[in-house]
Amino acid sequence: MSHLFEFNGAEGKGYSQPSPIMDVSKLKLPGSMRRESLPRWPRVSEPEMVRHYTWLSKRNFGIDTGFYPLGSCTMKHNPRVNEAIAQMPGIANIHPHQPESHLQGLLSIYHEMQEMLAICAGMDAVTLQPVAGAQGEFTAIRCFQEYFRKTGQTQRTKVIVPDSAHGTNPASASMCGFEIIEIPSSADGRLDLDALRAVVGEDTAAMMITNPNTLGIFEADVVEASQIIHDAGGLMYYDGANFNAILGWTNPGLMGFDAVHYNLHKTFSQPHGGGGPGSGPIGVKAHLAEFLPSPIVGKREIESEDEHLYAVDDCWYTWQTPESTIGKVQQWHGNAGAVVRCWAYYRRYGRDLKTMSEHAVLNANYLRHAILTKAEEAGVTHMFVEGAPINVCKHEFTISMSPAKESMGISAMDVAKGLLDMGYMAPTVYFPQIVPECLMIEPTETESKETLDEFATNFIKVLQTDAEALHESPTTTPVRRVDEVYAARNLILRYEMD
Ligand SMILES: Cc1ncc(COP(=O)(O)O)c(C=O)c1O
Repeated sequence: MSHLFEFNGAEGKGYSQPSPIMDVSKLKLPGSMRRESLPRWPRVSEPEMVRHYTWLSKRNFGIDTGFYPLGSCTMKHNPRVNEAIAQMPGIANIHPHQPESHLQGLLSIYHEMQEMLAICAGMDAVTLQPVAGAQGEFTAIRCFQEYFRKTGQTQRTKVIVPDSAHGTNPASASMCGFEIIEIPSSADGRLDLDALRAVVGEDTAAMMITNPNTLGIFEADVVEASQIIHDAGGLMYYDGANFNAILGWTNPGLMGFDAVHYNLHKTFSQPHGGGGPGSGPIGVKAHLAEFLPSPIVGKREIESEDEHLYAVDDCWYTWQTPESTIGKVQQWHGNAGAVVRCWAYYRRYGRDLKTMSEHAVLNANYLRHAILTKAEEAGVTHMFVEGAPINVCKHEFTISMSPAKESMGISAMDVAKGLLDMGYMAPTVYFPQIVPECLMIEPTETESKETLDEFATNFIKVLQTDAEALHESPTTTPVRRVDEVYAARNLILRYEMD
């Protein structure tokens, strides 16, 4: 099938549209704004256009197409009820410039989300503005920076990250102007408190860490780490990308964190992948609340008869600016559609979210065990499931293909591509970097036992594939193996017409 813009069917219209309310031809547009010739739009009929987009959608792989065990990304089912609610006209058709009186419904949703997120992370205040986890990290570290400025501690210039951290952690802190101090993990992949103690000092601004960590292992010493950082006068930042594993069971506040970001597009089911759309609110403890970006949603008593007419609750919701705000980090009010979808998710599941975390962890442990068992049965020895001697993981786990690479020339990338031919999305590859030839698998709570069993069987089949055949994979996808460095450096994002 050819590209839509290569279609050039018969003259005439391929669409029907209601007549405009006013005669637009009589509008006096300045000459500089008028087209001199008609644009080269494709001339297609409606069925041709529908076929084009259906064809495009079939070239893609998504959570609705098949199993998507992309570690650290929490690719869970997105309940359709969220979409129905986000598309209600009172939500989908409003404009952020409308007055507060028109926005009471949306503001009440924002307010409830702020409160819910604060409670589940053990924080005191929340902003919904950042639109990605990474932007949340940047926002929180900026708040830390202003806190240190206000309290006369500008000598705090260093941010500590473990070597298992996601790359966005050091990148966000570095964008704020901090120096990054990386500390090695201990032999079992967890925090090494001695390594931490060795670098902490009067110049420590903060430590950034996710828990469970990027190996899917719970950081049992995190409270002690918080103590070490706080004793030195620093602040603790919780990277909430792995919150799906602990929601309802414990929280970052209890672990001693001062700030956290939430990936609404992971834990709270906003559809993501392919770059968005996301939402990365942050929560902070009381001592940082005055620095949050503006605006956040507050509430007060109703003050007039007019307000009574518009109010959706017995109070008035209103945009507020924190006293020493760092300013805005995002246009408008964050990604409102994502906030509403995640509100719908939390309203639908409420207390069951604790069971959600339990099932996410159960599924990961089940799959890890199934892969190990099937490998043993099949005599497959050329992989190494990380985590020993700790024989349980949280919501995800890593497998090293190092033995396969050394003995047979089969890399983590080869296995990932082989899995594409089996009809799966590949797991995350080469992250975290401390695991050589790493595959990182996160099944999420929404997959069935049958899906996990089938994946474990097919995973072993891929490992039994002849190395030369695997080097040719994928053979069944619309695009075969690409030169990824070339593709990343030579982006073609625009269709050139002749
Ligand atoms: C551990 C971890 N931290 C931070 C991030 C950044 O989140 P986002 O992609 O929403 O910017 C990710 C993303 O996958 C992650 O896995």
